[in-house]
Amino acid sequence: MIKAIRGTRDLLPPETATWNYVEAVAREVFRAYDFQEIRTPIFEATELFARGVGEETDIVSKEMYTWEDRGRAESDRGQSLTLRPENTAGVVRAYIEHKLWERPGVTKLFYIGPQFRRERPQKGRYRQFYQIGAEVIGPTSAGSESPARDAEVLEMLAALLDRLGINDWTLQLNSVGCANDRPKYIEALREALKPVVRQMCFDCQRRAETNPLRVLDCKVPEDQPIIEKLPRMSAYLDESCRQHFDEVKSILDACGVAYVLNERLVRGLDYYTRTAFEFTHGALGAQNAILGGGRYDGLSEAIGGPKAPGIGFAIGEDRLVMSIPETEASAVRKPDAYIAPMGAGMNKEAARLARDLRRNDLVIELGDETFRLKKSLETASKLGARFAIILGENEAKSGQFAVKDLGKGEQVTLPREELSDYLQPK
Ligand code: HAM
Repeated sequence: MIKAIRGTRDLLPPETATWNYVEAVAREVFRAYDFQEIRTPIFEATELFARGVGEETDIVSKEMYTWEDRGRAESDRGQSLTLRPENTAGVVRAYIEHKLWERPGVTKLFYIGPQFRRERPQKGRYRQFYQIGAEVIGPTSAGSESPARDAEVLEMLAALLDRLGINDWTLQLNSVGCANDRPKYIEALREALKPVVRQMCFDCQRRAETNPLRVLDCKVPEDQPIIEKLPRMSAYLDESCRQHFDEVKSILDACGVAYVLNERLVRGLDYYTRTAFEFTHGALGAQNAILGGGRYDGLSEAIGGPKAPGIGFAIGEDRLVMSIPETEASAVRKPDAYIAPMGAGMNKEAARLARDLRRNDLVIELGDETFRLKKSLETASKLGARFAIILGENEAKSGQFAVKDLGKGEQVTLPREELSDYLQPK
């Protein structure tokens, strides 16, 4: 038997209704904050992620689905391509390619779609997963660097989660500095790690060489006392980064958006500068980051574009769906009525009636003229229909229909014109 590939999965009803609900709420929230949708390709040049996300990151160094795409003609050379592991690099590439800075104001885009990473699959972690994300990007003159943008994005996220009924989230907030102050911090980290790194886990020993910031991310219990004593980024922030971060925090305070400062939050992608954040949710267990994001003031230049500071986030939609409480809004709408055609030739009449009722926004299931009445009513009940409409030759001729309330068991006779009103959900 051929099965779905490890780390991928089929999303089936009724769960897909929750996915649609979550996406519909996200779209409403994006509309209120004046974000527009972008859809970028699912694969891009490998180089985009190598330069954008960073060669040394776990994502680029071991998690990407990359292949050498064969050329089909002399003019069409082979090229290394990669299934997108995230969408920020693609959005910034599109921003550069289409000169979106020529449009007024800052560019505010959102996306919803699959991403691919070859991670070890477990609950809440998949190899094909879905993100709902947004990016605010533009020339400095349009205000893209302003701390007001950071705070607005964070406040929007708080509003979105609240609207979905997720209220026990924690916003973890940090500033990871910029190209001016971070090298000094990394140097300080390297120095501080030298005498202790041999006592640390193998990963930390490697990270101390390649990417010392990632040491702060280590979860190995024995390493924690050492990490707690390492220098802190906040002591190294330059004056402009410090002011920027203070302003983000003071706007959040003014809006009543709660946050926890977490100096060990460094994020796994290299493009971040200044504000970095994650929202965590207790119910998710080990994979508790429901979303992550931050500012990336140098990303555009890193992939060959003009200066275009930006900030954004991506929500793990798989994890978001796992966290939302069951509500009526996310439930599948059951059929309002099941039409039971009785006897030869009645499928035609049933199809016409169904067409009318469906145009009035009713959910209709159609039976088949070969079914006996008992089988039709049983099927209607199993499907969860509220009513069954019995349609035989007499009904078709007279235009009077027997409508059975499957919950109460009562039956009424109604003329065709009254059916639609009668069947509407109250
Ligand atoms: P990220 O932290 O790599 O950031 O991913 C964001 C979210 O995607 C995570 O918090 C998690 O909920 C979800 N996620 C990541 N990997 C998986 C997986 N294997 N299975 C299920 N869910 C997963 C980014 O991707 C950045 N592009 C976010 C961003 C946008 N930063 C600025 N703008």
